[in-house]
Amino acid sequence: MASHKLLLLPGDGIGPEVMAEVKRLIGWLNSAGIASFETEDGLVGGAAYDAHKVGISEDDMKRAHAADAVIFGAVGGPKWDSIPYDVRPESGLLRLRKDLALYANLRPAICYPALADSSSLKREVVEGLDIMIVRELTGGVYFGEPKTITDLGNGQKRAVDTQVYDTYEIERITRVAFDLARKRKNKLTSMEKRNVMKSGVLWNEVVTQVHQREYKDVTLEHQLADSGAMQLVRAPKQFDVIVTDNLFGDILSDIAAMLTGSLGMLPSASLGDIDPKTKKRKALYEPVHGSAPDIAGKGMANPVAMLTSFGMALRYSFDMGELADKLDSAIASTLAKGLRTADIKSDGASIVSTPQMGEAVLKELQALYA
Ligand code: IPM
Ligand code: MN
Repeated sequence: MASHKLLLLPGDGIGPEVMAEVKRLIGWLNSAGIASFETEDGLVGGAAYDAHKVGISEDDMKRAHAADAVIFGAVGGPKWDSIPYDVRPESGLLRLRKDLALYANLRPAICYPALADSSSLKREVVEGLDIMIVRELTGGVYFGEPKTITDLGNGQKRAVDTQVYDTYEIERITRVAFDLARKRKNKLTSMEKRNVMKSGVLWNEVVTQVHQREYKDVTLEHQLADSGAMQLVRAPKQFDVIVTDNLFGDILSDIAAMLTGSLGMLPSASLGDIDPKTKKRKALYEPVHGSAPDIAGKGMANPVAMLTSFGMALRYSFDMGELADKLDSAIASTLAKGLRTADIKSDGASIVSTPQMGEAVLKELQALYA
């Protein structure tokens, strides 16, 4: 059996707690002979700052480059609020995305039947929801230069961020989104703000051209990002795949998370191009929820997004779609039995801790292999 090298970067806040549940799962997969993973632990975010005064060390960057996949927890917290901007916890994550060229961020939002009542939206609006947000991840205002704060000398300062996109960046993310749409319901919605932004004008133009040239069989729709956000909470089931830029994708995917019941439910995959020689692609898998400092260390965090992020690694890095499907069913049955972490509690359900939830999911998975 081929052995796969994983770099685990638990990070800060609830990161280590939810990562422990992935470790539990990997431990069992290895011992049961279902898969073979070699894992290494590294530091990122505030944890890396405390040890090395940077968001991620050169050594861990090397290990990230060498790994078959990086499994990432979360970064940030009030402890690091006043450290220099360049080494803030988020800098570690942004460097990983940029240096590994992980330009395609896939954020699926699926509403498990058992959780339809946990969403702040009505059951009928979210029940059966299954959409995929494809977020551009290495361009736009996150990385555009100049990015500065200048003292104007008259008691005023000026802050500048730069939103910038080249044709090739829009083309490649658009292709990822169209390819996914073809395997799903064959519909793509592109979101930008062409009514006020030049980058939106180009985005719209390039997506339209790629459609005309290469993907005429897929239905393409354009929405302005503000109106798209409104449609996401009004009637989210109208969407199949959504493609959008780095900043809009950040915001729209947090909205999408709440459609599924909790931010604790949304996984993500950040992918680079497939290397034509090795046939491998760089990849990082990360829950969307962040470090949640308010509940960190209490054993309350929901490990589902971390577990399904690992499930995305099985699917997109290791061609183990069947195992990923089984993991999804194990999660669905755990939820159906009424087990809930605090973020998704509902009437009559029992509140369990992070390890109890992880253990329950593993038990369900083991039953599927019994
Ligand atoms: C996310 C996060 C990150 C982002 C932060 C932690 C830099 O919010 O992955 O959505 O803004 O991209
Ligand atoms: Mn975010």
